[in-house]
Amino acid sequence: MKYRILIFSVLVIFSSCDRDRNTPGWSYFPDMEESQAYETWSKNPYFEGNKMMVGPVEGTVATHEHAYQFVKTPEDELRAASLENPLADEFNQEHAELLYNRFCIVCHGPDGNGQGHLFTSGKYPIQPASYLNERAMNKTDGQLFHNIRAGFGVMGPYGFMMPVEDSWQLVNYIRHLQKEQD
Ligand code: HEC
Repeated sequence: MKYRILIFSVLVIFSSCDRDRNTPGWSYFPDMEESQAYETWSKNPYFEGNKMMVGPVEGTVATHEHAYQFVKTPEDELRAASLENPLADEFNQEHAELLYNRFCIVCHGPDGNGQGHLFTSGKYPIQPASYLNERAMNKTDGQLFHNIRAGFGVMGPYGFMMPVEDSWQLVNYIRHLQKEQD
């Protein structure tokens, strides 16, 4: 009897070994292997509205984002006016110029006078604001920051494209252009 059990066990053990790596062999309990996954854009009956992609919980901010409570209105620009520029003494000209050339130069031009290529070539019909005009000169760093993060008039918002620190560096760059042209 003992021998029979031993022979049976050896047979089971050896029959479990498979030299062919391309076949997974038999599976006795497949439930764990085949979990039911949902495609990103598919319906999911377990979630609210049957949507697989649920938005962030209301009132929460992802760790890589910063909460900016102001929107593109003149009232909010005034509210943002008192925001302190934390990088006022840490102007990184090289980095700021890179950002400016990437995001702003097409419209505002290399000198910040609003004569960017997009406008002078006639492709963009609205004259971009010059940083050298009185309005921009008289704005606080907080207001300029607001214009970049939330947009201004016909100009769209750029806040969602860059970290907060980069927007402050762009404010510093506008100040730098204003001093240069003064
Ligand atoms: C597609 C063109 C375009 C781009 C790109 C653009 N702007 Fe503007 N910007 C404008 C226009 C047009 C205005 C004026 C809007 C108005 O008067 O309604 C403006 C206004 C502004 C103002 C307000 C100035 C004032 O006189 O009050 C600031 C500050 C500014 N832009 C900064 C930037 C910065 C920094 C970038 C890059 C991150 C940028 N803009 C990218 C078109 C652009």
